[in-house]
Amino acid sequence: MENNTQIINQTIDFVKTTLADAEAGHDWFHIERVYKTALHLNRTEQGDVLIVSLAALLHDIADSKFNGGDEEIGPRIAGEFLQKLNLDPLLIEQVQLIIKNLSYKASLGQINFASKELDIVQDADRLDAIGAIGIARAFTYGGFKNRVLYDPEIKPDLNMSKEAYKNAVNPTINHFYEKLLRLKDLMKTPAGKQMAMERHQFMLDYLDQFYAEWEGIK
Ligand code: ADP
Ligand code: NI
Repeated sequence: MENNTQIINQTIDFVKTTLADAEAGHDWFHIERVYKTALHLNRTEQGDVLIVSLAALLHDIADSKFNGGDEEIGPRIAGEFLQKLNLDPLLIEQVQLIIKNLSYKASLGQINFASKELDIVQDADRLDAIGAIGIARAFTYGGFKNRVLYDPEIKPDLNMSKEAYKNAVNPTINHFYEKLLRLKDLMKTPAGKQMAMERHQFMLDYLDQFYAEWEGIK
């Protein structure tokens, strides 16, 4: 078996190659940010650093959204890759379970697996959806979907079904209320909560400034 640094470096190469054509919200740089943030959280949370690293690096290796809703494809591709590295099957299983349980969607449904490493990587992934980066990602996604920035006539809908949400043409500002401002309360680790509070406040300040500029008063 190879040492951890070699394992991580090979995984980084694999992820970079696989995500070479990914869109901006889920490109290599998203993975790199989540990886760095997960390692940062792990310094206080003290999870298994190899599991945290591999799960962070592989967590978006194949998004079900872009693969006909196939929820198993990510864990499967990650598992096939890790098997080639001859890693301990138990470790591979842990990483696959984390990837499977990571998505916001999975967390809304039934939770059938829990681990400290899942909490850490999930917090890191959610942190990348809020704060300055989260704002940038939301507007990138909105632009990709041809959404307007804001429309005072269209109020955020907090009770939309998953299906309706996917097809909705809501202004991007609504996404703050429908998802981004709720993420801080979903943080699992103390270190993640702390970072989320700061990023949350940054978004609130941003929204204040946005509305003031919208009215032409600031
Ligand atoms: P994740 O990869 O974190 O599970 P998604 O794939 O749902 O999240 O979204 C990727 C990025 O696009 C996130 O930053 C998210 O906030 C943003 N996004 C998703 N849906 C919308 C939307 N309806 N409007 C604006 N941004 C969105
Ligand atoms: Ni992600």
